[in-house]
Amino acid sequence: MAAILWTEALSVKIRSIDDQHKKLIDMINDFYDNISKHSNNELIIKLVNGMKSYTIMHFNQEERYMVQYKYPYYEQHKKEHEQFIAKVNALEEKLKQGKIIVSFEITSFLKDWLKQHIMKTDKQYGDFFIKHGIV
Ligand SMILES: [Fe+2]
Repeated sequence: MAAILWTEALSVKIRSIDDQHKKLIDMINDFYDNISKHSNNELIIKLVNGMKSYTIMHFNQEERYMVQYKYPYYEQHKKEHEQFIAKVNALEEKLKQGKIIVSFEITSFLKDWLKQHIMKTDKQYGDFFIKHGIV
């Protein structure tokens, strides 16, 4: 079962960024599927770690554009990114210590956060980025 589906409603109108969001959604779904299948902890940790690395790369890319073109909402956008990474770090740490069994509450958090962030925060930069020639 897919945890989250990419639809046009999630498009920020910039192909390269939409592609990264799709990849991120795939990774969250993969994580979700493996939780559902009760896969072993090592695999779950590997998936979380892969998702985190990709997310950091993606956030850095967005933030580089924001800095380069002096995006007015850079600071608050960056703060949202940092909060998310902090959550994922805490999740990864707990998994490594064997302290938690991943619950659907956690997978829900990941997918809901991403959806909200793309729809509310990322979409705000769409026109601004397009104006600066980002495709
Ligand atoms: Fe973002």
